Amino acid sequence: MKKPLIAAALAACAGSAFAQQINVICSVQAEWCSLLSTVYARSTGVKVNMSLKGSGEALAQLAAEKENPKTDVWFGGTGDPHLQAAEQGLTLEYKSPSLPQLHEWAQQQAKQSGYKTVGIYSGPLGFGYNPELLAKKKLAVPKAWADLLKPQYKGDIQVANPASSGTAYTMIATLVQLMGEEKAFDYLKGLHKNVGQYTRSGTAPIKAVARGETAVSISFVHDGPQEKMAGFPVETVTPQEGTGAEIGSMSIIKGARNLDAAKKFYEFALTASAQELAAAAKQYQLPSNKGAKVDPNVPDFKKIKLISYDYAKYGASSERKRLISRWEKEVNSLPR
Ligand code: G6P
Repeated sequence: MKKPLIAAALAACAGSAFAQQINVICSVQAEWCSLLSTVYARSTGVKVNMSLKGSGEALAQLAAEKENPKTDVWFGGTGDPHLQAAEQGLTLEYKSPSLPQLHEWAQQQAKQSGYKTVGIYSGPLGFGYNPELLAKKKLAVPKAWADLLKPQYKGDIQVANPASSGTAYTMIATLVQLMGEEKAFDYLKGLHKNVGQYTRSGTAPIKAVARGETAVSISFVHDGPQEKMAGFPVETVTPQEGTGAEIGSMSIIKGARNLDAAKKFYEFALTASAQELAAAAKQYQLPSNKGAKVDPNVPDFKKIKLISYDYAKYGASSERKRLISRWEKEVNSLPR
């Protein structure tokens, strides 16, 4: 059903002239960004200029553009940097009439930002692993955070860099909440010895797992099924001790040049049908609109031991900056 829709959208957009346009930073995977912009352009005649950026990178760009914003909407990416953008006055207060259609966690994200951002999806953090590579290396499937410190995984774990990636920042904030800050930093120093590479993007590690370049990744578990469907040997697991979940968010930029178009795009992105485009693009986060169909590939939150993640605290500018710079100084600078 979805395929003809996508094909029709592409055909309708090819070569047509657009009366209006909108500039969007998109912090989810490329397939979702392009399907969303194509369908939106087809149904509204508004051209969507998408630029793809990790959550941390997007925040840095918006801060740099503050005096002269070139972006209208920031779509997706982990919620913490969206909250930080709200606090820094980079995003606009907008109370959507669609809020009551959203799950409580998504509305809560809006409330605690003073309506400068909103939850559009959620997904739990866990591990990706390549069962074939693990078997070849005679390594066990990691089931707990503690397992990742075992010396046998040395060089075989990938995770992103928290300065550019919201996924990696979610990991740090999760560990701090699980263990307390000092123990979490001891843990991160131990993990550092086993990390083969810190990547820029949050999804690069699970793609490396899928392609057999590394055995284990720290990733959002909803990023696994797409790789598996492409035929790669990849599985996911959530750690026994408990884990955190992101509230993927969306914000309108303060000073947006195309404000009306930005609000229309924002409203569109909150609808159940627009949120179902995620699964059509093989992205399996839990949609925030209560009416959106939940694809069977979406992780079952009820089966996962989730911490009660303090989004307000870990999305605060000072906390996020402090934890990332502590990680740079005390962890990333250590030899491996
Ligand atoms: C992927 C996930 C999203 C997540 C995003 C964060 O696209 O599917 O759920 O929000 O990564 O990206 P980042 O590069 O900032 O870690």
